[in-house]
Amino acid sequence: MLTGASGRIGNVIYEGLKKDGRYTVIGADIEANEGQGIVKMDIADELRLLELTQGVDTVLHFAWIQENEDFLGKVLSGNVSGAYKLLEAAAQNGVRRVIFASSNHATGYYKVDEKPDPMDPYRPDSFYGLSKCYIELLGRLYSDQGKLSSINIRIGNFPGDDRPHSERAGHIWISERDMLQLIVCCIEADAEIKYLNLYGTSANSDNYYNIDYLEGLIGYKPLDDATELLEQAKAAGERFARMRQGIKADKSDLTSYIHRSDR
Ligand SMILES: NC(=O)c1ccc[n+]([C@@H]2O[C@H](COP(=O)([O-])OP(=O)(O)OC[C@H]3O[C@@H](n4cnc5c(N)ncnc54)[C@H](O)[C@@H]3O)[C@@H](O)[C@H]2O)c1
Repeated sequence: MLTGASGRIGNVIYEGLKKDGRYTVIGADIEANEGQGIVKMDIADELRLLELTQGVDTVLHFAWIQENEDFLGKVLSGNVSGAYKLLEAAAQNGVRRVIFASSNHATGYYKVDEKPDPMDPYRPDSFYGLSKCYIELLGRLYSDQGKLSSINIRIGNFPGDDRPHSERAGHIWISERDMLQLIVCCIEADAEIKYLNLYGTSANSDNYYNIDYLEGLIGYKPLDDATELLEQAKAAGERFARMRQGIKADKSDLTSYIHRSDR
C-alpha cells in the first residue's frame, strides 16, 4: 500500500511498481485519481488506514502535508500524527514492513564534508527535518517492539522532471529509475533487517553521502550520476541554480551545511 500515490515521487513509484508486475499495489492519496486507480485516503483518518492496510505486506509512506514550518499545527498534528496512525494501523493488521520517505534534512546540520553515516545522531535543520526524525523514531519504536520492520529512506533531491537543477542537487539527486530500484530493494531486503536508515541518492560522483555499502546490504546499484548530467547541461549552455538560489554548498566550500536550499 502506497500513500501519496498522486504525488511527485509517489506517482513514479506507483506506476513503476505496477509495470514491474510482481506486486499488487494499492495507491492511496487525499487526491484520488480514478483513471489511475488511486483511491482516496486522508492520513488523518484512522479507520480508512485500518481498512487499507488489511492484508498488506508492505506500506510505502509518501503522503505529506506541505506545511513544514507550522510546528504545532501541521507538523505535529498533521504529518507526525498521521504517521503514527499509519504505523498503528499497519501494526494492528500485521504489515511486515513500513518504508518511509524521510529526508536529508533529518541531518542537514552536518557539514558537507562530514559525510554523515545514517546512524549518526540526528541534526535536523528545520521543523521539516525534525518531523522526519520523529517519524523515523516511531519506526524504531515499532521495530524494537517487534511489531514490524522499519526502513527510512532519507531522500536527497527528486525534482519531478528526472534531472538535477542546481549544483547542490548534484550532490544529493536521485533519478526516477534509481528511486524505483531503491524502493524494490527495500521491499525485498532481507527479513533480518528490522530497522534501517539510509540516504537515497543516485550514484552521483560528488555525493555528500556514502551509499556504496547499500549494494552489499540490499542490492541497490544506482545507474545515474547527477554530475554527468550537470556537465552535459553546462556544455549545452544551461545556467544553474547556484546563483539563482543563492546556494554556496558545493565542494569548494566544505564548511557549508548540507541543508542549504532545495530539499
Ligand atoms: N521530492 C523531493 O525532493 C523529496 C526529498 C526528500 C524527501 N521527500 C519526501 O518524499 C515524500 C513525497 O514527496 P513529493 O515530492 O512526492 O511530495 P508531493 O507533495 O508531490 O506528494 C505528497 C502527496 O501527499 C498527498 N497528501 C497531502 N496531504 C495528504 C493527506 N492528509 N492524506 C493523504 N495524502 C496527502 C498529496 O496529495 C501528494 O500527492 C514526502 O514525505 C517528502 O517529504 C521528497
